[in-house]
Amino acid sequence: MKTISLVKPDDWHLHLRSGPAMRSVVEMSAAQMGRAIIMPNLLPPIKNTNQALAYRAEIMEALPSDLSFSPLMTLYLTDKTTIKDIESAATEPNIIAVKFYPAGATTNSQGGVTSIEKISPVLEVMQKLDVPLLVHGEVTDANVDIFDREEVFIDKVLEKVVRNFPSLKIVLEHITTKTAVDFILGSSKRLAATITPQHLIANRNHMLVGGIRPHYYCLPVLKRQKPDQKALLKAATSGNPKFFLGTDSAPHDRHEKESACGCAGVFSAYAAIELYAAVFEAEGAMEKLEGFSSIFGPDFYGLPHNQETVTLERKAWKVPMQYEFGGSQVIPFLAGTELSWRLVK
Ligand code: NCD
Ligand code: ZN
Repeated sequence: MKTISLVKPDDWHLHLRSGPAMRSVVEMSAAQMGRAIIMPNLLPPIKNTNQALAYRAEIMEALPSDLSFSPLMTLYLTDKTTIKDIESAATEPNIIAVKFYPAGATTNSQGGVTSIEKISPVLEVMQKLDVPLLVHGEVTDANVDIFDREEVFIDKVLEKVVRNFPSLKIVLEHITTKTAVDFILGSSKRLAATITPQHLIANRNHMLVGGIRPHYYCLPVLKRQKPDQKALLKAATSGNPKFFLGTDSAPHDRHEKESACGCAGVFSAYAAIELYAAVFEAEGAMEKLEGFSSIFGPDFYGLPHNQETVTLERKAWKVPMQYEFGGSQVIPFLAGTELSWRLVK
């Protein structure tokens, strides 16, 4: 196989940042993706319709006119989010969902949700108005080991939300464990999950053996090869529509990551579809790539498939060691290595 054409993919979980940093990376996603769900964890976070639309306008302004790319915005859920906030977002087609960060779980999540009880009335309205809940699935309890935080979240929080809100649409974002895969498989159609390139390509050995590699560090943290990475590979390439593309590409200034206290986030947007293509090819499942990348996501959100197509060609190329990023640099995932597929531009 020398080339492969796909319905243009979408990225259902993307961090674009803002200001000069956003302007450095937005074109990369726009070149690959028809749409992307833009995460609201800016400083300060995007908490209401006006802020989301202003952020969207900033992104649109930064886009070159020859690229058709539609940013789908999200609100950052807090203990103080009101029913009015949800009602207003629900009437706005460019706002697609609400993002639930447990307070303190990840980058800029300090203002997130402190307890599920506090947001019950808001979840009730989201269920009624069919606004999906996007979940960062990790508990933040200091007594829970960081490698167990997703499993404990599923057991202690998500299970309850699913039970109490039986028709709320939920996406468990960037799943990392076999437990998460099994939970998704065992639940109804209104529950789905995104899977990132790094959780398919790497496991915690890549991050920790032979030296600590900060550019592999993201949250939820990379888990074991067996059973976790293997379960993710199987789920992504299975053709089950409950699993779809969400890169969680999360660029940070290299100095913020190469530090005594480096922050979480892997930057993959520069070659998102090429990274997934490498995974699907290695798994002998190239024919399943289009469903995962371009079909199951829009079907879950009730949106049309993209009209355009993209072509990938088999052509070895070397990932740059760095990209310009808001006047500094960002180190891409797999910097300096060779990728075998390239998007034809
Ligand atoms: C994300 C970021 O940097 O915004 N980091 C990450 O490791 N994934 C936040 C998130 O999605 O957890
Ligand atoms: Zn994320």
